[in-house]
Amino acid sequence: MVDDRGAMKEPVPSHRRVEGEATPQYPEDPGPPAVPGSRTPAGRPPADEPRPAGSADGHTDRRSWDDPSPAAEPPAWQVLLGYARPYRLTLIGGGLLSLATGAVGLALPLTAKRLVDDLAQDRSVTEALVWLAVLALANAGIGALGSYVLDRAAESVVLDARRHLVSHLVWLRVPAVDRSEPGDLMARVTADTTLLREVTTGSLVSAVTNTLMLLATVTVMALLDPLLLVVTVAVLGGAQVVTGVVVPRISRAAARAQESVGAMGTALERVLGAMRTVKASGAEQREAQRVDQAATQAWQAGVRAAKWEALAGNTAGLAIQVSFIVVLGLGGARVASGAIDVGTLIAFLLYLYYLLPPMQGLVGAASQYQVGAAAVARIRQAEQLPVEPDRAPAEPPRPGAAPAAVAFDQVHFGYRPELPEAHRGLSFTVPPRGMTAFVGPSGAGKTTVFSLIERFYEATSGRVLVDGTDVTDWPLAELRAAIGYVEQDAPVLSGTLRENLLLGAPHASEDELAQVLRTTRLDSQVARLPDGLDTLVGHRGTRLSGGERQRVAIARALLRHPRLLLLDEATSQLDAVNEAALRDTIADAAHTTTVLVVAHRLSTVTMANRIVVLDTGRVRAVGTHAELLGTDPLYAELAATQFLVAAD
Ligand SMILES: Nc1ncnc2c1ncn2[C@@H]1O[C@H](COP(=O)(O)OP(=O)(O)OP(=O)(O)O)[C@@H](O)[C@H]1O
Ligand SMILES: [Mg+2]
Repeated sequence: MVDDRGAMKEPVPSHRRVEGEATPQYPEDPGPPAVPGSRTPAGRPPADEPRPAGSADGHTDRRSWDDPSPAAEPPAWQVLLGYARPYRLTLIGGGLLSLATGAVGLALPLTAKRLVDDLAQDRSVTEALVWLAVLALANAGIGALGSYVLDRAAESVVLDARRHLVSHLVWLRVPAVDRSEPGDLMARVTADTTLLREVTTGSLVSAVTNTLMLLATVTVMALLDPLLLVVTVAVLGGAQVVTGVVVPRISRAAARAQESVGAMGTALERVLGAMRTVKASGAEQREAQRVDQAATQAWQAGVRAAKWEALAGNTAGLAIQVSFIVVLGLGGARVASGAIDVGTLIAFLLYLYYLLPPMQGLVGAASQYQVGAAAVARIRQAEQLPVEPDRAPAEPPRPGAAPAAVAFDQVHFGYRPELPEAHRGLSFTVPPRGMTAFVGPSGAGKTTVFSLIERFYEATSGRVLVDGTDVTDWPLAELRAAIGYVEQDAPVLSGTLRENLLLGAPHASEDELAQVLRTTRLDSQVARLPDGLDTLVGHRGTRLSGGERQRVAIARALLRHPRLLLLDEATSQLDAVNEAALRDTIADAAHTTTVLVVAHRLSTVTMANRIVVLDTGRVRAVGTHAELLGTDPLYAELAATQFLVAAD
């Protein structure tokens, strides 16, 4: 994703269809009727109608979210102007103040000319001196105000860009997340947006104000002596050629530098995200080298950009020096011949130096623009990653909401077109209530079943139905609100225990919390902690044990009162006592809700109402433990080998 726009794209789903095995009958009746308070898609408009809210990004077509629109990218300056638009008045105000500073500055040589004239003609110089002092003070005061106003607007531009990007990234679709590096995305949010600050003031505003300053100075010089001006412009024109050659090189170097910063973020995130593994593997040195390599690349590109910028900036300075010598010689001759007086020549020479800042400003603006354009391109790339189609919020179901029914109907799904399909015509039905266990060898597609139910990915063909409605026809938030999902690696987020528990049910009461802590047997642990539920769990919950993390994840899912509970090896790390207790909790939950478990223990499997045996993306058999033992050799083998923890 670092440098290739194409790599940001989602794959086009493959439409391979493999003949499935015997499929359980698809139910006529899609599921239970909605009880009051439960949230089902009943009464919703068909999916093909525009959804009422949350489709700001226009991704409403149910089959189109995986294809990012290949819309032509507007040029960077247009995007930059778009960022700056809300602050145009402040920016114009700041620009005017900068111009006023320049105008006051322009008056200084004229006052100096008057001072010289006064001296030459033996007049009092007091008035001229007072004017000089006033102008110098005004110059400083207005200059300070102008730069404050401009920098403030620039900071606001950065804030907006960050807000926009972050609110985009949290809605990224899972396939887009799979293809992105978090470290690189982080660099885009932090480092790339920071560059917009410099660009707003250093490029957009500076280009306008410096052009005006240049024109004003040139006008005054033309009034003083047109001939000297023509000579000056001729010398300065040569400098522009150099700038024209240099600017594209700055652009390339800037883009490279920003990419390297992204690569550095990726390399750093890789180490910091798996510090214990790195240490256990003794890979610190090698990992540090990876980060170092990216940092060095950023340095090289930065130095290259600095080289070209210095060349461009100093070409302007050199051109002014040359002009000075030429004007001094020619102007001296004109003074000698009486064409102009000494005061005019001095003023002209002073104005010559006044040309330098706007010229350098313009060169700087051009360089800054190149850097900004590189940052804008990276920000835009991230903003084009596909997001969820529907951002309307939904409340979790109320306690007692009707359990959900689930069915897969000839589902084909591959994570990427070039990979073998994870599901190859998968079909099964799960009625409301009760427990269904999924068993099968590693890589059979068990976790993928849950991912498709949550609509993290979409089936290539076939249908995934919840309550008889295709998940692509469900309002996304409502679908997910109905589900409690405990992932295979039971993720816990940095923060407090309470924050983790309330993540999926922010409005749960203290009583509900206490209740769920009891059922997941976390209560005694929490009671022992000095800060109780406000204890910090560390990055990814590293301060908890594996079994504690799993129980936090289960508690989090239960707090949602889900209509459908998905447990992916959710108790794999628990000791026998805790496991037995949680098994009872889950069995209890199965009386009121639909529970799907990926099971690893015989005890759980035998408790299930039905067992679905998966193998390489297909359903091999469905039945109870006793039935399957006699009929399905794979199941019998799994029962004999995989379900090792059977003795309880
Ligand atoms: N995000 C992904 N991108 C690409 N391929 C994936 C992804 N997740 C899983 N796969 C592949 O899809 C197949 C099914 O994976 P899945 O996670 O569903 O297996 P599983 O039955 O849950 O296995 P396990 O028991 O080991 O958890 C595997 O071959 C796996 O390599
Ligand atoms: Mg799995």
